[in-house]
Amino acid sequence: MTRDQARSRIIFALDVESSADAVRWVALLAGRVGMFKVGKQLFTAAGPEVVRMIRRAGGEVFLDLKYHDIPNTVAMATLEAVRLGARLVNLHALGGYEMMAKTVATLDKEFQGKERAKVLAVTILTSSSEATLREVGIDLPVPEMVVRLAKLAQNAGVDGVVASPQEVPLIRAACGNEFLIVTPGVRPTFAAADDQKRIMTPAEAVAAGADYLVIGRPISAAPDPLKAVEMIVDEIMNVRSQEPGARIQNPEGFPF
Ligand code: C5P
Repeated sequence: MTRDQARSRIIFALDVESSADAVRWVALLAGRVGMFKVGKQLFTAAGPEVVRMIRRAGGEVFLDLKYHDIPNTVAMATLEAVRLGARLVNLHALGGYEMMAKTVATLDKEFQGKERAKVLAVTILTSSSEATLREVGIDLPVPEMVVRLAKLAQNAGVDGVVASPQEVPLIRAACGNEFLIVTPGVRPTFAAADDQKRIMTPAEAVAAGADYLVIGRPISAAPDPLKAVEMIVDEIMNVRSQEPGARIQNPEGFPF
């Protein structure tokens, strides 16, 4: 794996509260990481303009708004997200097959066979436990639900999932090698765990089968964020290709 291939697997979580903060991070990290993740906090504070700003600065965007609504609303919202310039968008698999299939069909129509933005599904949030699921009437164990929803998403045409590092091998086994897996909860060997509980290092996550790693504070809270990125790149490159599960999904690097 080349340095640029390793770099393209890093998705920096732009967990900041203002457009001005986002502009500073993007100016620093564009070209150094594969993508910027804009979540509900920044999007609600700064609006769609923040996505356009990142694109103008040469960055790719994962718009992490986790849509869950009636099929038509999710499909139309996703269409607007990709028209804004997002390369990666997501929705909740719990919204069901029709919601996911309609969204993918709407994007296919928009892109007309051209390389289209990718859709990821969230299965069960990692903050949910078995007790959380029981509260809402789901009696299955979390890992079973995760696999069930990942397969449902795949059958609906969704391109991949966001999953915790621990779930990666299960999903890889159930959904095969073409299915994208994006994982947060990654902690380089040099970084603090923060509030993340079940963590893996970048090399472990990639070796387990993750395609892309969402990483925030290990970079943003580092004394020298650029150096932290390069150290993470080093760690990703440490994955030996003969390790089980270690693959290069896209040898040409981002986007996909
Ligand atoms: O700073 P840190 O690397 O922990 O940031 C991880 C990012 O991934 C945050 O934006 C967080 O909301 C997101 N995330 C997560 N765990 C999940 C899903 C998303 O940490 N299960």
